[in-house]
Amino acid sequence: MKNKILITGGAGFIGSAVVRQYIAETDFTVINLDKLTYAGNLQSLTAVSGNHQYRFEKVDICDAVEVARVFREHQPDVVMHLAAESHVDRSITGPAAFMQTNIVGTYILLEAARTYWNGLEGEHKVGFRFHHISTDEVFGSLGESGLFTEETPYEPNSPYSASKAASDHLVRAWHHTYGLPVITTNCSNNYGPYHFPEKLIPLMILNAVNGKPLPVYGNGDNIRDWLYVDDHARALRLVLEKGKPGETYNIGGFNEKTNLEVVRTICEILDELRPQNAPYARLITFVKDRPGHDHRYAIDAGKIARELGWRPSETFETGLRKTVLWYLENAEWVEGVTSGDYQKWIAQNYEQRII
Ligand code: NAD
Ligand code: DAU
Repeated sequence: MKNKILITGGAGFIGSAVVRQYIAETDFTVINLDKLTYAGNLQSLTAVSGNHQYRFEKVDICDAVEVARVFREHQPDVVMHLAAESHVDRSITGPAAFMQTNIVGTYILLEAARTYWNGLEGEHKVGFRFHHISTDEVFGSLGESGLFTEETPYEPNSPYSASKAASDHLVRAWHHTYGLPVITTNCSNNYGPYHFPEKLIPLMILNAVNGKPLPVYGNGDNIRDWLYVDDHARALRLVLEKGKPGETYNIGGFNEKTNLEVVRTICEILDELRPQNAPYARLITFVKDRPGHDHRYAIDAGKIARELGWRPSETFETGLRKTVLWYLENAEWVEGVTSGDYQKWIAQNYEQRII
């Protein structure tokens, strides 16, 4: 019986959605291991932080001694590894943290998991899983047609995607060489509540309501395949429960949109929900392109649909509307993140509030 999960990066955007879902919908005990970088925000977890199923460990995945302690003390049944540096633009201006956390950190976690797994016996050993969360960006950039499948060769183009590709290869090697029961998932662009506003969708929503320019890179014709974050969280839980060790699964939203379409749709939703005297689209501003900007990502999510029965439940229209509403209705979270106060809050609160 698997009911104790160690989640790394559980204070981030996707990790916090996974943590909230496990606590709300299962009897799992969740151990959230997170360094709390600028992207880690315990205010995204206030709904669960007092729950008896939830534990928090402020630990860097690059700290081998501390990571080993967490395995020893909490004895997890399974691991879901989301901790990473995740923002492509930051990887271009400062790649070092990406190499350290995404590559070295994953290596350290794999070694700790292997030592721990070697010491397990019986059904605990058989049931143990190391689920690595990765990205579709490892496959590089698509032309006008075609989709990424699990067989698409790796061709990462940015320091971020190269570091994620390296981590995927480490995970694969730990299975091939040591037999560690790993599963990797490669997902497309997520969006939804609690998304740090350096990423396209939350940045555009918040800039628009504050009357600031909406900076579209290049001519806005780059294409991303958008997935609502709770649909991703549900897919991850399913893969961990039913996926086959040694396999990889692609996860995508069947929602290909150009960046300009995304920004225009956000503007239209805001015109309706929070009208101003002129349409929000007046704020769209074309700016210098991202260096090495991948043109198109799109996922063939056929394998996870066929083998595990997963389909996303949100369309882009329903998910985006929910997301815009969430940002309009959660001024306190937004204010904490945009003012930087969430980090002061963490410093003041986490010691006494969370084990
Ligand atoms: P995020 O940046 O919002 O969160 C990352 C979390 O990891 C933060 O809580 C941060 O504090 C933590 N972290 C960073 N370095 C750490 C370290 N050294 N030790 C411990 N914790 C550390 O990222 P996200 O968007 O939630 O992405 C989560 C994972 O999913 C990442 O592995 C990312 O590559 C992958 N992914 C993201 C997307 C997306 O669209 N956001 C899509 C596909 C895959
Ligand atoms: O595909 C999955 C990946 O999606 C994840 O692995 C990454 O962690 C996640 O950050 C995301 O990467 P992107 O680079 O696609 O996301 P971002 O929100 O930074 O940008 C989305 C698109 O919007 C991209 O084509 C660049 C463009 N963009 C982005 C920003 C921040 C703009 O045009 N203007 C902007 O200000």
